[in-house]
Amino acid sequence: MRTNFGAKPWSYPQPVFILAAYGADGTPNAMNAAWGGISGNAQITMCISAGHKTTADILARKAFTVSMADADHVAACDYVGVVSGADAPDKFAKAGFHAIRSEFVDAPLIEELPMALECRLVRYDAGNGCLIGEIVNVSADERILDANGKIDPDKLRPITFDPCQSTYRVLGGVVGHAFRDGLSLK
Ligand SMILES: Cc1cc2nc3c(=O)[nH]c(=O)nc-3n(C[C@H](O)[C@H](O)[C@H](O)COP(=O)(O)O)c2cc1C
Repeated sequence: MRTNFGAKPWSYPQPVFILAAYGADGTPNAMNAAWGGISGNAQITMCISAGHKTTADILARKAFTVSMADADHVAACDYVGVVSGADAPDKFAKAGFHAIRSEFVDAPLIEELPMALECRLVRYDAGNGCLIGEIVNVSADERILDANGKIDPDKLRPITFDPCQSTYRVLGGVVGHAFRDGLSLK
């Protein structure tokens, strides 16, 4: 027997993305965002409220970064999701984050979060909150790369948002190989 929960914004796994942008005075700001994902070869789509300071900053600068929240920075990543930069102008610093200017877009990378997408704003619909960004670069700190220079999730330790339990979970281990395991059933 299945239980019906009705219309809910639930899926597994849900990302924990940290969106960051520069404010009008150049101060970096960031917010937590779980509603979004890759929507094209070089495109990400997010659903972010028009009332957030980060949204206004992204619209003004036409750029943003999307860092992967990780297990080492859970409190900081949650903090930027529960406090607005409109109320706490030093929010980014209070989270313990340090900004590094992206080489590719007018937006801050977060030194503490080792993997990020650097994005140019394509468009934003204030009616439904749909924000589309063009991914112009992906960058990763060398500390999360494996011996072959690839991003190693075991080193990154990204977290996911559980919308049913309101918890964060760290990504688990390998259970299969994409584009390969299914071939056995062909
Ligand atoms: C786990 C989590 C997920 C969130 N996901 C989203 C989201 O997808 N879209 C959104 O608009 N706000 C989301 N928020 C809320 C914003 O991060 C929050 O309102 C934040 O304080 C906005 O900050 P700002 O005003 O400085 O931009 C989320 C918060 C948390 C804790």
